Amino acid sequence: MTKTYYEQVQAAVAYIQTQVTTTPTIGLVLGSGLGSLADQIEDKIVLPYETIPYFPQSSVVGHAGNLVIGQLEGKTVIALQGRVHFYEGISMQTATFSIRVMQLLGVKQLIVTNAAGGVNTTFEPGTLMIIEDHINLMGTSPLIGENIAEFGTRFPDMTYAYTPKLRELAKTVAAKLAVPVREGVYVGFTGPAYETPAEVRYARIIGGDAAGMSTVPEVIVASHAQMEVVGISCITNMAAGVMNQPLDHSEVMDVANRVHHQFVQLVKGLIAQM
Ligand code: HPA
Repeated sequence: MTKTYYEQVQAAVAYIQTQVTTTPTIGLVLGSGLGSLADQIEDKIVLPYETIPYFPQSSVVGHAGNLVIGQLEGKTVIALQGRVHFYEGISMQTATFSIRVMQLLGVKQLIVTNAAGGVNTTFEPGTLMIIEDHINLMGTSPLIGENIAEFGTRFPDMTYAYTPKLRELAKTVAAKLAVPVREGVYVGFTGPAYETPAEVRYARIIGGDAAGMSTVPEVIVASHAQMEVVGISCITNMAAGVMNQPLDHSEVMDVANRVHHQFVQLVKGLIAQM
């Protein structure tokens, strides 16, 4: 008999629990260029995605595929070193399988990071943006389909999806570390093509500050799971049409690497205070 989605998540969780004795309370989704933060986790167990039952694997360059559980800043964390994206041709449920695994493992707080294009013209490549809210332009949701009551309620509230107290904490930590941050609204597109200049103008008109291809499904699921969430985008490039030049993935990776240190400091500082 093929397992239901819920049973698949349970199977992954059961396997992970055979590998670790600690209970992580903070989840980390490490986006493009931030994956190396997982290397700083101490007393860690590294589980390659392919060793975990039913765990989806990423095919994108720059996204390693490891679940890393251990200690960071005195907290027990579980990090996704590399994430899978909807544009890889998987379902929204598969794209958020890892968040469900975290939920059943007992994770209560989630830090999501990503690389994004700057829609707000006052941003520049290298800007770190604390996500204030999101707009889902992916045309679908990971919660579509029968509601799995064990996971959450049919109509979850998204008013505080990006937990106000964690956003404030992120700003306070950034100020203490003298890491410049902005705040803004993340607009989620499916990708994998970058947005057109017209789509970027549209994103700006509707209140967006950054455009990206991830995060929205994960945060919807985290809200459903009643996790507290804090999201940080690294603006790796100005979105299409903002500057008069084409975009490419290598620029995204270069800028992500350039601000990597500040990004890591901010996330670690945040974990220490959570
Ligand atoms: N658009 C969407 N996703 C991105 C971008 C962008 O300009 N840069 C990095 N991820």
